[in-house]
Amino acid sequence: MRMDKLSFVILSLRSGRRICRMSTALQLWKRSTESLRQILRLKPQNDKVLVAIAVASMLTACTQDLKLDGSDKKLAKEEQSKSQPVIFPDYNPSIADGKVVYERLKCAECHGVEGHGVGGRANQDMTDPNGKLAEETPIYQYKLLTYGLKNWDHPVLGTTTSRREIWDLVFYIRSFNSAPLSTAELAGIKEVFGANCADCHGLKGYGDGPLSHNLDPLPANFHQYNRFYDRDDPMLKIHISEGLYPSAMPGFLDREDSTNNVVFDEEYIDKLARYVRHFHIAYKSNYPEKSNSNPSEQK
Ligand code: HEC
Ligand code: HEC
Repeated sequence: MRMDKLSFVILSLRSGRRICRMSTALQLWKRSTESLRQILRLKPQNDKVLVAIAVASMLTACTQDLKLDGSDKKLAKEEQSKSQPVIFPDYNPSIADGKVVYERLKCAECHGVEGHGVGGRANQDMTDPNGKLAEETPIYQYKLLTYGLKNWDHPVLGTTTSRREIWDLVFYIRSFNSAPLSTAELAGIKEVFGANCADCHGLKGYGDGPLSHNLDPLPANFHQYNRFYDRDDPMLKIHISEGLYPSAMPGFLDREDSTNNVVFDEEYIDKLARYVRHFHIAYKSNYPEKSNSNPSEQK
């Protein structure tokens, strides 16, 4: 199973706590089902499971001390026994460098040069924006490539490939179904981000905009690897669409920015999510600049 169970438990408790603070029953219902559906990656028809979990997490979260019942303990233990350290990169992983590693390690023999898969070896089409891969977090993929999965005969890179290169690979693979923004797109979204997000998040995404100082929690710093490598893309999009109650983060879905002539529909929210990601990945190779500039500038 691909879901990170421990973080599911934590997240459902957290969203439960958030729910406790909510004022109306309606808000409560909408948000709890949406975020749980997101966390569990459930299809709409699995609503019964959702209801059960939403109720259970609300009950546990509303009492002061949070207890794990027997089954949750088992989940947490399982997670721990295979808990493998994640070593974050020291500067933004590069999609371009990932491509070079992908070629060197001959990943294409099974996954195809462009990630469409080779029949009989790896059938999954990694370019499908609605496929399995599009719902995975960078951390999950890093662990998969570094340590492999039990009973799964996949190339394991932890002992042969550097951490940097594994992160480069992760973001190269992710670019199959979520293409990097073009220079023109970047320029356009920069304006919109400047007008709608930068007051809180800062123009460079460090979470240090002029409004940030009075906010608790602080606006997210998009350069923070442990936070953003732990998000899948659908979750980023839900958070931008719906906001993060009760923080200051507003929901943007269906809003309009008439100055920049933009409607925040799902397509544009997708672009915003990729814009958020562009702060913590590099599109270009990290190596040419290595000798004559300070890599930390990219952070
Ligand atoms: C011998 C064949 C083979 C090679 C070589 C190979 N893979 Fe895979 N890989 C698979 C198979 C099989 C799957 C399962 C999905 C599928 O059937 O397409 C998979 C899945 C994956 C996944 C997604 C896992 C998931 O949970 O959806 C990633 C990411 C991945 N491979 C990356 C790589 C990278 C990077 C390389 C090169 C270092 C590589 N693979 C080399 C066979 C291979
Ligand atoms: C009024 C201030 C404010 C504005 C404007 C704002 N944000 Fe936020 N944002 C926040 C705060 C505060 C958080 C942290 C919430 C938390 O930690 O619970 C946040 C968190 C986020 C996150 C992190 C979600 C996660 O999964 O951790 C993303 C992504 C994000 N904002 C994107 C945007 C984008 C894109 C815009 C503009 C379209 C925007 N924000 C505008 C205050 C703001």
